Amino acid sequence: MTTRRTALGALAGAALLPKAFAADTGAAGESLKEAAKKKGLRFGTAISAGRNQFGDPAYRALVERECGIIVAENEMKWQALEPRRNAPNFAPADAMLAWATDKGIAMRGHNLFWQAEKWLPAWVAKEDFGARPAQGAERLMRKHVKTVCEHFGKRIGSWDVVNEAVDPADGKLRQNALTRALSSSSGAIEQIDLAFRLAHEYAPHAQLVYNDYMRGDTGSSKHRAGVLAMLAELKKRGTPIHALGLQSHIGSWDESADRGKADLLEWRKFLDQVSGMGYDLLITEFDVNDRRLPADIAKRDAGVAAAARDYLDLTLSYPRLSDFLLWGMADNISWLQTWDEAPRTDKLPMRPLPYDAELRAKPLRQAILESIRAMPARQA
Ligand code: XIL
Repeated sequence: MTTRRTALGALAGAALLPKAFAADTGAAGESLKEAAKKKGLRFGTAISAGRNQFGDPAYRALVERECGIIVAENEMKWQALEPRRNAPNFAPADAMLAWATDKGIAMRGHNLFWQAEKWLPAWVAKEDFGARPAQGAERLMRKHVKTVCEHFGKRIGSWDVVNEAVDPADGKLRQNALTRALSSSSGAIEQIDLAFRLAHEYAPHAQLVYNDYMRGDTGSSKHRAGVLAMLAELKKRGTPIHALGLQSHIGSWDESADRGKADLLEWRKFLDQVSGMGYDLLITEFDVNDRRLPADIAKRDAGVAAAARDYLDLTLSYPRLSDFLLWGMADNISWLQTWDEAPRTDKLPMRPLPYDAELRAKPLRQAILESIRAMPARQA
């Protein structure tokens, strides 16, 4: 693996970068999608409807130049597709899919079920499942999966079927209105199993993915263990699930010390176990939280780039991984700017993505490019 010093603590990371690192746009050289394609990897990003992203021609052009695959940041979530019961709203997702298809860009689906109750449509939590709640919940899940999968059909070749089912605090499966209705004891595994079976029934062509945000740090050990236990249980049940989506929101999320290589070692053990069970891997939502890096932009960008290289060199070395998506392309549109769970204490805008607000390439873009160029090629 990499001998480079590890990531976020490593503020001398500036030394890694060419002295005169140009804030070039990346337009002149090889695009990320071209570099990825040479390795049998698809590179892409999440994109969101509205101004600054999908509504902005310059941002769309950047995505078109760099990306071979996109995912809707919010527009295919149940909450977005059916904000009120029986009042579907597919237009924003349809517009993105139509644009992607026109540009020859693939699109993956995120997500059919987001496990934490607060991320389900509010009306689902209040749903009256009737005298036989298990049948009622199954009926509702079937209707949702059927409607969504039939609507998008084969244009979506990969679905995050279940998102974030494992509670990082104790490694147990999260409960919600659907799991409670399906079984009075512990319905979560039944509900997850059912979600995948329904997805397989209505999108038999698709890669079916479980997506979560476990990381390699000590604070994530219960999270990793919980995901492994769930994947093992689903395997035992013969659930049609093909891959684990590694969200990869890396960087600092709490106050615990960065253990650098020790965290990467845990991460490697985890990926070994997941691939050992026969699951494929994807990087689904990569970005770097820079909250513990200094305000100085050159140092911060270098620290972010170094963290990315360490993580990507290891993660992209797994031959079972063939899709790599970022959670946005430019700092100013990152969800981290408004996500108050792990903010910068100095309140400065975060710099978690490969382009700045003016869409100029940053050192992170170079780090991503170098990791892709260094990775072993995938088998066709
Ligand atoms: C986030 C979006 O980026 C935000 O705009 C939205 O307010 C909340 O969801 N894990 C996931 C994504 O699986 O769906 C989340 O996206 C980020 C964390």
